[in-house]
Amino acid sequence: MLSNLKFKSIIFIFLILPFHMNGQSGEIEIKERQIQVNEQSDKFKIQETLNHLEILNKTVKLVHWNAEGPTAYVLHELTDEFIEEIDGHTDLIAEQFRVLGHYPEIDLAQLNEMKDDFYFPNEKIKVEDAIQQLIENYELVITTLDAKIEKAEADLVTQDYFIDLKTDLLLQQWKLKMQL
Ligand SMILES: [Fe+2]
Repeated sequence: MLSNLKFKSIIFIFLILPFHMNGQSGEIEIKERQIQVNEQSDKFKIQETLNHLEILNKTVKLVHWNAEGPTAYVLHELTDEFIEEIDGHTDLIAEQFRVLGHYPEIDLAQLNEMKDDFYFPNEKIKVEDAIQQLIENYELVITTLDAKIEKAEADLVTQDYFIDLKTDLLLQQWKLKMQL
């Protein structure tokens, strides 16, 4: 025979347990939704960075080809070095994107919209002007990276890649400033 106290305890567990479990599953749902939001936001940030690097790479290449002046060859060599480093970062970040379950895109319409924010030296340009334009192009990418690094959410590996990228872009920008 169950004592009165044990009987009351069993009734209590049956009454309270379902509410407790509902509360827990509610919390789990909220957390899952939060992770989805963070993943979406990381997805946007990484794809935007890939687009920026694609555009930056092209503007550096244009300077490599189109800059003219007594010191143009120094810049020609320097930009070769920069392009190789930017390519390396692009590949690492694109592969991290795959690790996170996304697929990198090269969307020409999207690139076309973004390109207006950058200088494109599409013709003969003096070395000093080319350097100045590149410094501003770098500044644009570095500034957007700052916000992405500060607001790192779900994925710390991506944050680490963003920090490495910012470090190298700052160094390249500094090397350009040394040429003025
Ligand atoms: Fe070349």
